Amino acid sequence: MFCVVLWTAVFVIVDGYRPVVIVHGLLDGPKQFINLTNFINETHPGTSVTAIDLYDDMYSLMPIWLQVSGFSEQIKSIMENAKDGIHLICFSQGGLVCRGIIATLPKHNVHSLIFLSSPLSGQYGGPILPDCMKDCISNLCYNVLGQHISICNYWNDPHHKEEYLSNNKYLPQINGEIDHSKLPEWREHFLGIKKLVLIGGPDDGVITPWQSSQFGFYDSTETVVEMKHQDWYVRDVFGLKTLDSRGDVHQCVVSDVQHIFWHSNFTVYKSCIEKWLT
Ligand SMILES: *[C@@H]1O[C@H](CO)[C@@H](O)[C@H](O)[C@H]1NC(C)=O
Ligand SMILES: *[C@@H]1O[C@H](CO)[C@@H](O)[C@H](O)[C@H]1NC(C)=O
Ligand SMILES: *[C@@H]1O[C@H](CO)[C@@H](O)[C@H](O)[C@H]1NC(C)=O
Repeated sequence: MFCVVLWTAVFVIVDGYRPVVIVHGLLDGPKQFINLTNFINETHPGTSVTAIDLYDDMYSLMPIWLQVSGFSEQIKSIMENAKDGIHLICFSQGGLVCRGIIATLPKHNVHSLIFLSSPLSGQYGGPILPDCMKDCISNLCYNVLGQHISICNYWNDPHHKEEYLSNNKYLPQINGEIDHSKLPEWREHFLGIKKLVLIGGPDDGVITPWQSSQFGFYDSTETVVEMKHQDWYVRDVFGLKTLDSRGDVHQCVVSDVQHIFWHSNFTVYKSCIEKWLT
């Protein structure tokens, strides 16, 4: 009996990988993450991996704040059963959802927060968008109706900063670009994570600019300004600078990976993800 107990204890210590939770992106769902789940299972046998089945496909166009509350409910119950914490992998638009979850969920126990090609600083443009369309999208997005569509919640038009700040109901709040009373609390929750991993690359083809995956973004002349020179980084509004100076922000930039292949590319998994899932 004692032996069994001891053996179980040893097994848990040696093999106790933290559960992994995956939050999908725009127009996809858990099905797209079978390969990633298999990579984790092969390299870290026994890991519990959950790709959350919520707001799939067309429903992923629902407003981000709504998705934050839905995903939070499910993730909360996984966390409650994981006393050593969980790892969170968020793909593409899912990264924006995860930013909201981390900010608003008190006592979360997220260990590694991994953003897999997420437009973290917003999106402006895209693979099939002619320039003239971008203005139309801004007009569509920066009003009450437009804000009911997820993409509009992180559409960040550098030529319409005022409209973005006053009418976008998601990204400026999360970034602390507009002042609000919840900021100090959200910042504290954000600082509760142990590691932040930013994965992306120049051949992504969807995230525009691709540096948004690394917290960079366009200025008003469409020149990309890197993370460390973003105003909210410099002022450390939501905690990113503190996290970085703690040594807990890890960037992984990889070439030759198109957007839809990030989660099924074993090289990307081995070089950018595996080591953070212990
Ligand atoms: C995902 O895994 C399946 C089954 O193992 C395989 O057939 C498929 O090619 C993989 N997809 C990619 C993009 O690697
Ligand atoms: C994980 O891998 C093992 C061994 O290859 C396999 O038997 C098991 O079904 C896999 N589990 C999942 C969830 O894929
Ligand atoms: C996988 O990633 C490597 C870079 O790490 C890249 O060279 C390769 O083209 C990628 N394969 C696919 C199918 O995206």
